[in-house]
Amino acid sequence: MGRVQGKVAFITGAARGQGRSHAVRLAAEGADIVAVDVCADLPTVPYDLGRDEDLARTAELVEKEGRACLTARADVRDLAALREAVRAAMDRFGRLDVLVANAGILSFGRTWELPEETWSEMIGVNLDGVWKTIRAAVPAMIEAGHGGSVIVTSSNAGKRGLANLPHYSAAKHGVVGLCKTLAVEGAEYGIRANTVHPTTVGTRMALNDATYSVFFPGVEAPSKRQIDEGFQSLNLLPVPYIDPMDVSHAVVYLASDESRYVTGSQLYVDAGTTER
Ligand SMILES: NC(=O)c1ccc[n+]([C@@H]2O[C@H](COP(=O)([O-])OP(=O)(O)OC[C@H]3O[C@@H](n4cnc5c(N)ncnc54)[C@H](O)[C@@H]3O)[C@@H](O)[C@H]2O)c1
Repeated sequence: MGRVQGKVAFITGAARGQGRSHAVRLAAEGADIVAVDVCADLPTVPYDLGRDEDLARTAELVEKEGRACLTARADVRDLAALREAVRAAMDRFGRLDVLVANAGILSFGRTWELPEETWSEMIGVNLDGVWKTIRAAVPAMIEAGHGGSVIVTSSNAGKRGLANLPHYSAAKHGVVGLCKTLAVEGAEYGIRANTVHPTTVGTRMALNDATYSVFFPGVEAPSKRQIDEGFQSLNLLPVPYIDPMDVSHAVVYLASDESRYVTGSQLYVDAGTTER
C-alpha cells in the first residue's frame, strides 16, 4: 500500500487489459489516474478494441480503490487530443508524475506481403502514438517540477523478430530507442524512462480467433488445451500466458521511488521467452 502515494498517473489504452490493470494497481498504491483510450475499432485490427463502457468500468474500479479517475477518449495518433487530456489532468490534479504509454494494436502479415495500410496503422499507433503521448505529457511533467517516470510497453517482439509481425516488431524495437533517448534527455529534470517487455498476456489482443489462426495455422477452432500448449511452448517457465497483473507489478516498481535510479532499462516480464 502507498508505494506511489499522491502521484498522478496518465495511462493510455486504459479501457481494458493491461492498461486497466495498471490503473487499478497504481490506484491501490495511492495514485490518482488519468485513463485514456480510443474506445473504437480500427480498420486493420482483426479483433475488437476497447469500448466507452470499458473505460467507464476502469474508472469505477479505480474509484473503488479510493482514488480519483479522469477519463478521456483519445486516439494516441491525435496529438491535439492527447494535449487536451494532459491539460484536463493538470487542471484537475495540478501534477503529472507517471506516464504509462501502453496503448497498442496487433495485426498480422509477412514482411513482403503486408498491406501498406496495415504497416502504416501499426507504426502510427504503436510507435508514433508512443512518441505523441510523450510529446504531450512530458512538458507538463517538467513544468510541474516533480520529475517523473515514463514507462513504455514494448514486448518480447521488442527484442527479437517474430514471423508475421514485422510492423509490430519494428514498432516495439523503435520504442526502445525512443525511451533510451528520453532517459538521456530527461535525467536533468528527474525524468526516468524505461520499457517493459511482456511475453504473451491473457488479454483480448492475444486471445482471439485472428491470433489463433496465425499462431496455430491449420488448426480450426483450437481447444483451450491446444491454445495453452501452443502458447506454453513459447515460454521457458510453466505458464501459457501471464496475467495483466504480472506486468502491473513491474509498472508499479518503475512508477515508484523504489526504482529512483533505474532509467534507460528494459524490464522483461516474459517467462523466459526471449531466452528460448
Ligand atoms: N497481450 C499480449 O500478449 C501482449 C504482449 C506483449 C506486449 N503487449 C502490449 O501491451 C499493450 C497493452 O495491450 P493489451 O494486451 O492490454 O491489449 P488490449 O487489446 O486488451 O488493450 C489495448 C487497449 O489499447 C487501446 N487502444 C488501441 N489503439 C489505441 C489508440 N490508437 N489510441 C488509444 N487507445 C488505443 C484499445 O482500445 C484497448 O483498450 C500493447 O502495447 C501491446 O502491444 C501485449
